[in-house]
Amino acid sequence: MSLTEELNKELQGTSPVEALKLLAEKFSGEIVFSSSFGWEDQVITHMIFANNIPIKIFTLETGRLFPETYYVWNRTMEIYGKPIHAYYPDRALLEEMVNKKGPSSFYESVENRKECCHIRKLEPLKRALNGNRIWVTGIRAEQSANRLEMQNLEWDGQNNLVKFHPIFDWDLDQVKEYVRENNIPYNTLHDRGFPSIGCQPCTRAVQPGEDFRAGRWWWEDQSKKECGLHETNERMSE
Ligand code: ADX
Ligand code: SF4
Repeated sequence: MSLTEELNKELQGTSPVEALKLLAEKFSGEIVFSSSFGWEDQVITHMIFANNIPIKIFTLETGRLFPETYYVWNRTMEIYGKPIHAYYPDRALLEEMVNKKGPSSFYESVENRKECCHIRKLEPLKRALNGNRIWVTGIRAEQSANRLEMQNLEWDGQNNLVKFHPIFDWDLDQVKEYVRENNIPYNTLHDRGFPSIGCQPCTRAVQPGEDFRAGRWWWEDQSKKECGLHETNERMSE
């Protein structure tokens, strides 16, 4: 039986908190959670911090986040009194790109945009995941057609670990309700038409009725709009 199948069995019928506890125990020191401070991530951060679950929380600090995102990051550290680890882009790679192409090269072509995402997110992600066996995320199925096809627990052949999305099946109302009930700090951009929040230059508000991710890289083709953090995984075997 593969690790993913084995874990699927073990986690059956558990709540998100129970599942996180179980995984933290089984993979002590080898499990991390990535937060971009969106409200899905804030829900999971609360679950981890309020229950003292030993899972390291990290964020990819691209250098281009919204002021509101830095604010909620800071508030979260103040409220829970626990660390959130920042991973920055490699300085030499970033300097080379910006010096050659300027600070806004991502608007010029998909290739440039992917290069920027690679330097500011993917390379640091590699370092953040290095040595770990479980990667927890705040992905929900209803966020996009692509995500609807994912599983709450899946093998990530690119990073060679298991990805776990504890609130995969929650709808947006459940997320909001949990945030409200538990008084969790959240990014106020969510109240201003931003269901999905990434880097400032690459995220805008959506119109009522528009897709969750319509405000991300809005100038690009629908099909290209993933930054590579969560590309559909090549199903390499475990
Ligand atoms: S993205 O692929 O479009 O950037 P999205 O914003 O939907 O991702 O977030 C999905 C999940 O990816 C988040 O719940 C979080 O786990 C992770 N994530 C996205 N951006 C970051 C970031 N800057 N730092 C850490 N984790 C992130
Ligand atoms: Fe660069 Fe935009 Fe990607 Fe952020 S989302 S890393 S600014 S291209």
